[in-house]
Amino acid sequence: MMKNKNKKREIFVTNALPYANGDIHLGHLVGYIQADIWVRFQRLMDNTVHYVCADDTHGTPIMLKAQSLGITPEELIADAHTRHVDDFNGFNVDFDNYYSTHSEENRIFAEKIYLNLVAANLIETRVIEQFFDEERQMFLPDRFIKGECPKCHAQDQYGDNCEACGAAYQPTDLINPFSVVSGKKPVMKDSEHFFFKLSDPRCVSFLRVFLANSARLQTEAANKMKEWIGAEGDHQLSDWDISRDAPYFGFPIPNTQNKYFYVWLDAPIGYFASLQNLSERCAKNSDQNTHIDLERFINAKKAKDANTEMVHFIGKDILYFHTLFWPAMLEFSGYRVPSMYAVNGFLTVDGAKMSKSRGTFITARSYLEQGLNPEWLRYYFAAKASGAIEDVDLNFDDFISRINSDLIGKFVNIAARASGFISKKFANKLGLITSGIISNTTSNQATENLDQDLKNQNLGVNLIEQLKNAKIKIIKLYDARNFAAVAREVATLCDLVNADVDRTKPWELAKDPQNDEYLLNLCSIYLEAFRLLTLYLKPILPKVAIAVETYLNIAPLDFCAGDISLNQGHIINNYQHLMKRIEMLHIEKLISANSINLLATDKKENKTEDKPENKKADKKIDKNGNNNLEVKDINLDKSDKKLINIDQFSEIDLRLGLVLECKEVVGSDKLLQFTLDLGEDRPRNIFSGIKEFYPQRDALVGTYVIVVANLAPRKMRFGTSEGMILSAATMFDSENELKLLTIE
Ligand code: MSP
Ligand code: ZN
Repeated sequence: MMKNKNKKREIFVTNALPYANGDIHLGHLVGYIQADIWVRFQRLMDNTVHYVCADDTHGTPIMLKAQSLGITPEELIADAHTRHVDDFNGFNVDFDNYYSTHSEENRIFAEKIYLNLVAANLIETRVIEQFFDEERQMFLPDRFIKGECPKCHAQDQYGDNCEACGAAYQPTDLINPFSVVSGKKPVMKDSEHFFFKLSDPRCVSFLRVFLANSARLQTEAANKMKEWIGAEGDHQLSDWDISRDAPYFGFPIPNTQNKYFYVWLDAPIGYFASLQNLSERCAKNSDQNTHIDLERFINAKKAKDANTEMVHFIGKDILYFHTLFWPAMLEFSGYRVPSMYAVNGFLTVDGAKMSKSRGTFITARSYLEQGLNPEWLRYYFAAKASGAIEDVDLNFDDFISRINSDLIGKFVNIAARASGFISKKFANKLGLITSGIISNTTSNQATENLDQDLKNQNLGVNLIEQLKNAKIKIIKLYDARNFAAVAREVATLCDLVNADVDRTKPWELAKDPQNDEYLLNLCSIYLEAFRLLTLYLKPILPKVAIAVETYLNIAPLDFCAGDISLNQGHIINNYQHLMKRIEMLHIEKLISANSINLLATDKKENKTEDKPENKKADKKIDKNGNNNLEVKDINLDKSDKKLINIDQFSEIDLRLGLVLECKEVVGSDKLLQFTLDLGEDRPRNIFSGIKEFYPQRDALVGTYVIVVANLAPRKMRFGTSEGMILSAATMFDSENELKLLTIE
């Protein structure tokens, strides 16, 4: 969407607001990193960008989670806020403001928009019948009701679909339904709900026009929307239930009793609240440069006059909310509608799905804590983002190879190859950086090179010219969010430079002082090439770019500066290593740190994602008291094959532990918490992921389990685990059922 060339764009950019009841994981980061790259690019183009996000703090799950932790929802969301801000900072996702939907600004906006919709006659009430938990005195969302599947009679299935047979149904179809909150049988109860009339002809025809603007949506998104809206004359859109009954953590609906806005009503409004909060903070700093006129970005008429843009970066799962409800709400309450959507696909890890509700994730935090470089992941995600809605697979072999071969082997290597000579031989002072052919008439070597250039018809095809010419293409690719093509283009340019280094062989030239001037000029040219390549990667690798700017002793690079090429006589700094190579060990550490999370895989996903050969995989005594099929999935099988000797084996301190206590872990589907007597001064606390296999956990008290007693203690979300309990499964168990190892 290149606008008028002379006018700088003013863009309000948002990222989807993460829920406040969980940590940021690598799946989340796909969309945040893509947005951050695009924002950084727009800024390097001298466009004005206000980039905001916030925590999405409302709803039943957050309310119940706070209750189960014995804290208030406010405490829960404050904690999440701090953690999320840290995580985003750690990955250099640089929001101008990271706010919260639980804020005054948001409450006021939500009320205003709602009342405008009431005035526009687009809100209506209806009585609906819903499951109600009499003990907890609350209505139950579908996911909070479980029971027996009406089709296959599997126990313990959710109210919307069966994970055993895949059937979809209404919660009322469940046999023996029970409330997940209290365990009691729910009753049916009437309640008045508020609906946004999305089926109103005004909404439908507005959405058709909205959809017709091709710059707004990726093709796949536009097609989805067409499908949802249906053909002319169809009435496919249903009204949207925007109210929830108390108790609910959210904003009360004005002029009602005990009714709250459904979390998805006030969530996108949080974009506006965050921008308003930013503009107020800037006003307080009274810095003219950062003054933000809020109305120009959110008011329908003013935004149109000012030609400002609003761009939403979201994941594909929330397209429905963002392209139907949200624009219709805005249109009929006097606010501006989104200019563009950048929708990302979902992350899989080595081909298997991550699950946000079940916790199959590598957290952003663990990635940083295990010492992995955030720019590795930024580069990898960039290299996989084409601007279309595609799922992204984090394949660890591919990850390692892209970082080590492309990023370090091709790009960083250029600086490494040129820097040594400049510092050792020329005191860091650059030579002549030509736009013509490089030669040194006193040097035989150079004459040969010149001859070769002539032979190859390379004359006039100058390296630097070629690199400079790529700029326009790279700018276009960035703007279209085709970061994968940017990475490819840059890799090709790096290849050109490296091929030239291979051709001129500076290390050979350095042997004869006669070649000094030629050598200096050559290396200076390679550094100028490196400067340009750094600019091209700067939105993706902001930290590396800063390090290069320091190394080259230059002002911050951007796409708009005139000719700021390196000059003869310019003094640079000593080269410091820019980036370490990634090792398999990094990945192994990462996987092991997340293994509890990784192993707590959604059963349903296992069913669909497990490769057939894994079904009967040889299961061995596992390292986490979990079955290790999924660990295999993520390429640890290499280490599985390693043999150990008897000395290594005798290092393992295996002991019997008497089970003193065995408790459920609140907030974990998989873990049991054991208190074990190992004959030491005090009992040990050990977590084991076998909850689903031991429904009668009380029966374990008084039995013996086998414990790896000298395993380093590990901090987990629920406490520190001081050892490991061994369990195993046979290949005959159909459901990977683990049994604790014990003695007769
Ligand atoms: N709170 C809502 C968004 C409200 S926006 C007004 C929400 N939160 S979320 O925490 O579940 O997801 C936040 C963002 O991360 C969404 O854009 C979502 O699509 C994205 N992703 C969550 N899991 C993901 C993957 N595994 N892969 C890629 N994106 C993922 O939805
Ligand atoms: Zn079923």
